[in-house]
Amino acid sequence: MDSCKAIAPSSTANLGPGFDIFGLALDLFYDEIRITKNRSQNRRITISTIKQEEGIKIPSDNENNSTALVVQKMMEDFKINDNIDIEINKGVPPGYGLGSSAASSVATAYAFNQIYNLKIDLYELINYAAEGERASAGIKHYDNVASSMLGGFIIVRMLPRLEFIKFEPPEDLYFVIGIPKIIVPKKKTEAARGILPLNAPLENIITNISNASTIVAGFAYKDVEMIAKGIDDKIVEPARKKMIPGFDKVKEKAMNAGALALTISGAGPSIISILKTDSHSNSIMEAIKEGFAESKIESKVYLCKPGNGVKN
Ligand code: HSE
Repeated sequence: MDSCKAIAPSSTANLGPGFDIFGLALDLFYDEIRITKNRSQNRRITISTIKQEEGIKIPSDNENNSTALVVQKMMEDFKINDNIDIEINKGVPPGYGLGSSAASSVATAYAFNQIYNLKIDLYELINYAAEGERASAGIKHYDNVASSMLGGFIIVRMLPRLEFIKFEPPEDLYFVIGIPKIIVPKKKTEAARGILPLNAPLENIITNISNASTIVAGFAYKDVEMIAKGIDDKIVEPARKKMIPGFDKVKEKAMNAGALALTISGAGPSIISILKTDSHSNSIMEAIKEGFAESKIESKVYLCKPGNGVKN
């Protein structure tokens, strides 16, 4: 096989109190990556982008592109010296907290594994896909890549060794996602991590652990209301919401319109609200748009469900 295509979904990370621990695949946007190998001894990576949303550019140099970082690491580890072409069909809007770099990285790792018949299992591939997160976050984090790879709701364990625990989400879990049209900084995730407090009061840590446990219980019992009850973050959201104009208003209006919970999706600036079934979805979408509009921010809103993982 000289060429292989893979498709990976968008994802949301954190779900409030699960910073760097919770990831959930979203059946909303998809990145499609085609990897083609050309025999040579140059180990050259060439990136081309065949679709991008207007006005949004992803970096195409090897140091700053997620897919190139993944391929570089896999080539080094498996002593592969071919020239590699990476074709990116970008469906996940980059820089908005919807796991855009993760979707590209996951599809890349998956296709590269197949093309060279490396037989790396999906759980181990997550670690390669996480290489791509260095491009936007400056470090590896696993929540988005794990959920984009495996689908469903994922708990990341990092110590003493990397492990992932997967839950199938309840059938009646729906989300309304709001994407505000604001300019995001380059390396946005790194910037959004840079403003986080280094310490937190014990009281807030206890509340967050209690809420995170409630979310896990909600997935275990397939109980949407229980999941939503846990989506209340006392540590990361208060720091990051300052980067999202109108966040409090959006939350208030969405909750009044029937959302069960609302928080920042990953490092933002998108927001994610939780619904049991899709009833109320129109009024929640309207409320989110109105909330942003009060801060003179245009936004796009989408109704979606949890997604499956990477595929060809
Ligand atoms: N857990 C990461 C963060 C997700 O919040 O920085 C980034 O999408």
